[in-house]
Amino acid sequence: MNTASLIQSFETYFNAKPNLIVRAPGRVNLIGEHTDYNDGFVLPMAIDHSVWMALSPRDDEQVRIFSLDLKVEAGFLLTSLTRESDWIEYPKGIAYQLMKSGYSLRGFDAVMTGDVPRGAGLSSSAAVELAVARAFAAISNIEWDAVNMAKIAQKAENDWVGVNCGIMDQMASAACKEGHALFLDCRSLEIQHAPLPKGISIVILDTSTRRGLVDSAYNERRSQCEEAARWFGVRALRDVNVEDLGKWNPQSDLNEVAFQRARHIVTENARVLEAIQAMRNGNIKRLGELFNASHDSLRDDFEVTNDALNIMVACAREQSSCYGARMTGAGFGGCAVALVNEEEAEAFTQAVSMAYKQSSGLEASVYVCKASEGASIVQG
Ligand code: GLA
Repeated sequence: MNTASLIQSFETYFNAKPNLIVRAPGRVNLIGEHTDYNDGFVLPMAIDHSVWMALSPRDDEQVRIFSLDLKVEAGFLLTSLTRESDWIEYPKGIAYQLMKSGYSLRGFDAVMTGDVPRGAGLSSSAAVELAVARAFAAISNIEWDAVNMAKIAQKAENDWVGVNCGIMDQMASAACKEGHALFLDCRSLEIQHAPLPKGISIVILDTSTRRGLVDSAYNERRSQCEEAARWFGVRALRDVNVEDLGKWNPQSDLNEVAFQRARHIVTENARVLEAIQAMRNGNIKRLGELFNASHDSLRDDFEVTNDALNIMVACAREQSSCYGARMTGAGFGGCAVALVNEEEAEAFTQAVSMAYKQSSGLEASVYVCKASEGASIVQG
């Protein structure tokens, strides 16, 4: 991102210099999919695609945001928030939730831009939320506590925007460290920054299919998981281990689909714990195998992949430079992620793009990504 051009845009739009620049990243989840709302474990990393804002505080309660990408201005008054349905609901939800938590906020003028693809499973909405939270915190003298801000952002998305997401995306955008993945226990919200192993590249493989209207499918998975947790007699599927799965049989009064959902969650939690060990030991081969097993479980048991994701993952795995590949994010479209030998990563991106086009007829975007820092003040 070119900060000079963002500053220039602010000057052109508001006829003044901005006081500060903030940014918050999207994320790619390495492993631990759909485990966050089951109190489980996840291992996301912030990517080098972010939402950026140049801004200056105002002396009144007005918030004005010009979106450079949509070429439109939107805004609201902190003293009278009403719900509509547009991109501005994300900033508004953050304002609402911060004030509900007792913070007093100042208004601001801002120009916003971003390069996190939307609906691709890379958490563009969490990036907007955390950039706005970072902006409010900076100009309203609120101490930046990443975990607390992630919780506020998740609540904004749950209660204001109306999307019933877990905590992973907001935690990744708020709390990640450059060069590291974030090992997160979604029950205690305890975090550990896990350095990425040497010699590998993380490659994002965007199928160019988009998630669309799948909130209902996401919510259905959530309630199936809750139903299974009740059957196992636990608070959340986090409390079921792989051996406990043997308690179920087809005659049980938990239906088979709900059991399959549970099997994904239980085995996925075990995979995350093993993945973090493999990363610590530099066992890249094992890490790749866990990626593969995760995808297969998401395809067969959790049923949140689509043809494009399955084709993309197959194309990636065909390359000898690839240790493993899986879908990432909520699923139903969007991106996959691959673990690739660093020296061959560029050749890998080209080979997979071509193979994917041949198999699916679709154009992919495939790129190596870097583990970046969570929400931060860039200047000011
Ligand atoms: C979306 C949600 C997250 C998480 C993932 C699946 O990204 O926002 O909370 O549930 O799906 O792992």
